[in-house]
Amino acid sequence: MAYSRILGTGSYLPETVLTNAQLAERVDTSDEWIVSRTGIHSRHVAADNELTSDLAVRAARAAMQNAGVTPDEIDMIIVATTTPDMQFPSTACIVQEKLGIPNCAAFDVQAVCAGFVYALATANGHILSGVANKVLVIGAEVMTRILDWEDRRTCVLFGDGAGAVVLGASDEPGLIRSKLAADGRHQHILNTPAQIAGGKIQGIPYLHMDGPAVFKFAVKALSDIATKTLAEAGLDKSELDWLVPHQANVRIIESTAKHLGLPMERVVVTLPEQGNTSAASIPLAFDAAVRDGRIKRGQTVMLEGIGGGMTWGAVLLRF
Ligand code: ACO
Repeated sequence: MAYSRILGTGSYLPETVLTNAQLAERVDTSDEWIVSRTGIHSRHVAADNELTSDLAVRAARAAMQNAGVTPDEIDMIIVATTTPDMQFPSTACIVQEKLGIPNCAAFDVQAVCAGFVYALATANGHILSGVANKVLVIGAEVMTRILDWEDRRTCVLFGDGAGAVVLGASDEPGLIRSKLAADGRHQHILNTPAQIAGGKIQGIPYLHMDGPAVFKFAVKALSDIATKTLAEAGLDKSELDWLVPHQANVRIIESTAKHLGLPMERVVVTLPEQGNTSAASIPLAFDAAVRDGRIKRGQTVMLEGIGGGMTWGAVLLRF
C-alpha cells in the first residue's frame, strides 16, 4: 500500500444557534459590523454538558459509517483540538473510550486552527510508514468556552463543532502532498496564555487576538503555502477542483482563492452559519461539500489552515 486515502467523512454541530442579533444584545456590536468584517451570520454553541470529546465522537461515528468501517478496524485516533476536555489525558484517549475501541494508538495534536491539516499530515505519515492502517482524524472544538463574552473583538468570531475523516491505506493515490509550517515568534498575536499553577489558573484564560496582525499574516502565509504545495506536487493551479480553507474570515478566503485563480464557486465556505470553529472548520466544510455532492471522488482538493503559534499548512489530495 503506497498511499493513504480518505475513506469517509463526518461532522457534528451542536443544536443551539447563536445569531449576530442575539450577540448584539450581549455586547456592543451589530449584525452589520460582523457580516461586513467577517462574513459570519451565526454560530453553533455546545450545551453546558457537551464536551469536545462528545462532539468528536458524533463526527467520528458519522465518518466511520460513511467509510463503511467499524470501530474495531481503527488502529489510531488523532484529535486536533485547542479546547481539550482536560489538561490530560488527551481528548483522543477519551474519544477512544467513548467509541469502545480498546486497542489503538490515540493522541492529540495542538496547532489551533491549523490542527486538522497537521493531524491529517501526521496520519498520512503513520500510514505510509506502516505503523497504522486506518486512522480516525478528528478536528473538534468548544471555542465558545474560552471566549471573553465581554470582548466584542473576539466573542463574535468563534463557534463550536467537530468534523472527522477516516484515512486508510490504499493502492490508489489519495493524499498527494502536505506542507506544514510554524513561526513561534508570532505567538503573542493569537493565544490563550493561562496556565495551571499552585492549584489555580494563572494568567488570562480567554482567547486573545490581535485581529489585524493575524489577518495580515494569514493572507500572505496561506497564499504562499498553497502555491508551494501545488508546485511541489507538480500540479498547475488549473488542475485544482476545490479549495477547502480554514473558515476564519471570508476576506482571507477570497484573497487565497484569488491568488490560486479559483472562482469562489469552487471554494467551500461554511463560515456564515458556523463562524470560526478552529481545528473543526476544515473537516466540517469538507464533509458538507462531500455530502451535498459538490466534492466528488477523483477530484483534486486543497485543504489549508492557519492558527495560533503561528502555525499553518496545506494538504493536497485526490478524493
Ligand atoms: N463590533 C463592533 N465593532 C467592533 C467589533 C465588533 N464585534 N470588534 C471590533 N470592533 C471595532 C474595534 O473596537 C475598532 O474600533 P476603534 O477603531 O474605535 O478601536 C474597529 O472595530 C476596528 O477594529 P479592528 O480589530 O481593526 O477590525 P478589523 O477590520 O481588523 O476586523 C477581525 C477584525 C474581523 C478580527 C479581522 O482582523 C480578522 O478577521 N482577523 C483575522 C482572524 C483570523 O484569521 N483568525 C484565524 C486564526 S484563529 C485561531 O487560530 C484560533
